[in-house]
Amino acid sequence: MAEERLNRYISRAAGVSRRTADEMIRMGRVTVGGRQATDPGTLFDPGRKDVRIDGNAVVASEDEKIYVMSYKPDNVVTTMKDKEGRKTAASLVGDLSARVFPVGRLDYHTTGLLLFTNDGDLAYRLTHPKFGVEKTYLAKVMGVPTPGRLGILRRGLPIDGEMTNPAQVKFVEAREGKAWVSIRIAEGRYHQVRKMFDAIGHRVMKLRRTAIGDLELADVEPGAWRYLTGKEVRELVAYVAEKEREARGKRPVVVGEVEAAQARLAKVRRPRPERAAPAPATPVGERKGPRQPKPGWKQRSGRR
Ligand code: URA
Repeated sequence: MAEERLNRYISRAAGVSRRTADEMIRMGRVTVGGRQATDPGTLFDPGRKDVRIDGNAVVASEDEKIYVMSYKPDNVVTTMKDKEGRKTAASLVGDLSARVFPVGRLDYHTTGLLLFTNDGDLAYRLTHPKFGVEKTYLAKVMGVPTPGRLGILRRGLPIDGEMTNPAQVKFVEAREGKAWVSIRIAEGRYHQVRKMFDAIGHRVMKLRRTAIGDLELADVEPGAWRYLTGKEVRELVAYVAEKEREARGKRPVVVGEVEAAQARLAKVRRPRPERAAPAPATPVGERKGPRQPKPGWKQRSGRR
């Protein structure tokens, strides 16, 4: 029988993501043929060696792969269990929850596209930062950002001392002193989108993930789920394969980049003299071009 990587095997056997399998192995919870294995890349022959997690024998079945799109509502944690008794991701997929796990995380208050699968390989490629999978969010922010401030998000800015990668940012609409901005990023740092908008002085009031790669949140109501179509799965797999190829040519670190971006931020955030300005006749944000997409909240009836 062929040799297999231990983390891939554990991911299937325990029904967890590849990253969680890595952690379990590094923590020393896994033995192969009676010996502790702490390297996730360990190669072994599952036909010859018995594998145990916490002393319990496990066998990875060649399960049929399941891919599910759910629409996470507000006030749900993206873990399958919660010590504080909050509503969990498991509740979103009902009986299926025994067979799938959520791909990546969303904040408790972020809504939108949350994938579930039992395909540890795909989940790993979708979530590991080295592959740079793009996620699109629609943010409702306080105030109306100027083109200059949105430009800062586009170029990249320091968050927790580390530059963000350039983002794709589209001004969608402004109403009553609030704005909707679509932002597409290829990273997934903790609270990243909220921190990026905070850094340019516009607090996020609502945040919805609308796409992962080219896969868009569609045909699913808030709190509900559906299987991905065959076409969606094929396209997602193809997208991830392309990202894997791209990952081989990484962007180098530029010396002095963080300092230069900090100076740009300091300029836009310098407090203005206290003076009551007359209300502008037109919104001060980026002008709405004729080809701006209609925002998702206008298209779907199931909006929050
Ligand atoms: N960025 C955030 O700030 N929160 C999320 O849930 C996802 C991305």
